[in-house]
Amino acid sequence: MAYPYQIKSLEEYQQNYQQSVMDPEGFWANIADHFYWRRKWDKVLEWNFKDPNIKWFVGGKLNITENCLDRHLATNGNTPAIIWEPNDPEERHRIITYRDLYNKVCQFANVLKNNGVKKGDRVCIYMGMIPELAISVLACARIGAIHSVVFGGFSAQSIADRIQDAQCNLVITCDGAFRGNKDIPLKSVIDDALIACPSVKKVIVCTRTRTPVSMIKGRDLWWEDEIKQVETMGNPPCPAEEMDAEDMLFILYTSGSTGKPKGVVHTCGGYMVYANYTFVNTFQYQPGEVYFCTADIGWITGHSYIVYGPLSAGATTLMFEGVPTYPDAGRLWSITDKFCVNTLYTAPTAIRSLMSYGLGPVNHKDLSSLKKLGSVGEPINEEAWHWFKDNIGKGRCPIVDTWWQTETGGIMITPIAGVTKEKPGFATLPLPGVQPILVDETGKEVTGNNVNGNLCIKFPWPGMLRTTYGDHERCRTTYFATYDNLYFTGDGCLRDEDGYYRITGRVDDVLNVSGHRIGTAEVENAINMHAGVVESAVVGFPHDIKGQGIYAYVITDRMTHDPELTKKDILQTVSRIIGPIAKPDKIQFVSGLPKTRSGKIMRRILRKIAEGETDNLGDTSTLLDPAVVDEIKRGKI
Ligand code: WT7
Repeated sequence: MAYPYQIKSLEEYQQNYQQSVMDPEGFWANIADHFYWRRKWDKVLEWNFKDPNIKWFVGGKLNITENCLDRHLATNGNTPAIIWEPNDPEERHRIITYRDLYNKVCQFANVLKNNGVKKGDRVCIYMGMIPELAISVLACARIGAIHSVVFGGFSAQSIADRIQDAQCNLVITCDGAFRGNKDIPLKSVIDDALIACPSVKKVIVCTRTRTPVSMIKGRDLWWEDEIKQVETMGNPPCPAEEMDAEDMLFILYTSGSTGKPKGVVHTCGGYMVYANYTFVNTFQYQPGEVYFCTADIGWITGHSYIVYGPLSAGATTLMFEGVPTYPDAGRLWSITDKFCVNTLYTAPTAIRSLMSYGLGPVNHKDLSSLKKLGSVGEPINEEAWHWFKDNIGKGRCPIVDTWWQTETGGIMITPIAGVTKEKPGFATLPLPGVQPILVDETGKEVTGNNVNGNLCIKFPWPGMLRTTYGDHERCRTTYFATYDNLYFTGDGCLRDEDGYYRITGRVDDVLNVSGHRIGTAEVENAINMHAGVVESAVVGFPHDIKGQGIYAYVITDRMTHDPELTKKDILQTVSRIIGPIAKPDKIQFVSGLPKTRSGKIMRRILRKIAEGETDNLGDTSTLLDPAVVDEIKRGKI
């Protein structure tokens, strides 16, 4: 069998789960044995959640790209590694075999080396969904550079923050990106970002849209020219850098309840084993299958389940440049039909959006190749679950509702396709190696079934974050200080009568808008930068398509002549500071905010009003100025 650690039955799941709890080190060592290590580990695990200090496969040496590329060449060199579908359905798709990918990664890794990139250097990648993005990621890993991919929807300011935080010395970008009917001018955004980033010495620009770009002499280089140079050198091989299991592989920034995004750090050994194990098991991948994850590589889902998980398993991963609604709402089904996709892994927000177009775009598409469906990023409502099951899976495909986070590196709680009995709205059971625990506000364990609590994990797993870049203390306080000896996820959770887990949403000040994590404090900071804004408070509200929408209460210092224009200006400011994904859906001007006597904003009340539950606000008597609540209620949008 291709994957000896692939679970085939519920009994086997239970046995594996038991073993993983009784002997976690033995369990993970057996799995890690199926990878290519330059040197095996001396010790499987060293840990404490107090500092925290987490080390997996201590003393092991490897390079993740030898596991994603080199080891497949002998038997699978001609297997498609990446199938790439462009934004425009009229443009030709590309198929890149494992041998092609190996060659391209080595070639570009040599480009990076020629430009002075060394092991441990940080490289920022800001590109659209083209194969060169995956090639860039792998080329960094090949030479031991730490990649920090920034999603193409973030603003110049956000990129600059991330580049400065990680002190990147090189940026890889494109002239532009095609997404739906838009051309996004990536290089021009990078030019704006770099004004504030003296650490960046070189920018490599890959051609895609050929929109006019400024190219600064001595700093900016064309990807294609650099490749030619390597070709004139006779395309020398690029030996993989030997990495320690605990050397950093990448940084990925994510939002929390405080203003500044954190650089979540993943390391080489544990992350590789975990991304692969969870990919092979959750989706029950079989050799030859075509697997399609609709995420962007700018998010963790793309890192783990477009690039590292599938490629380390020798799978065929489909990468799509565009959006599900372009040129029409049948695009995902056309792609499924065109490439005989076997697994489709997408987000509830995409499903809800496509549902709203009815069945027209689904009809006459051949979806008979589909065997497995997946959902990720936010709770999936039952209506969307059933629509997906009935109309896309035609009632015969299992749906895996996968719960996990940027910090967990890979899937944690999920059905195993075709093995676990599913229940709509439930992520069901933890994968082997994952030990969830529910606790109450005081940190006391909530035992038994039919209970609610805050979701924590009580034992390390190989894919977990190791630190937040440049600020270990922040990692400790955010994840390990709320409850002693537990990793706190920030999610609320229900465990039902069958012991199945249902994630009920964030319990902190983090919003989930179309599956994107956005901190309320971050949005408030951006709004507060707008001239004339005195103060603001941001909360989430239920949104039919996005899951959660952003509701902003804003105090301005003078009566604006034209409130509608001011709202547009505020949206423009938020786009500039964070990016269009953080734009509030609703802005309400208010003269005051409900605060406690100690000056703390009572978000609970604002949330209720935004949700439209105005007659059930609870106790407001402790407020500094109870009258503002009535004013806010009257002005609700
Ligand atoms: C947060 C993590 C993990 C990849 C995409 C998001 C929410 C994620 C589910 C799910 C309910 C989910 C949680 C989590 N979430 N998957 N299947 N059911 N909620 O990664 O940006 O790090 O966000 O997304 O609230 O904490 P992320």
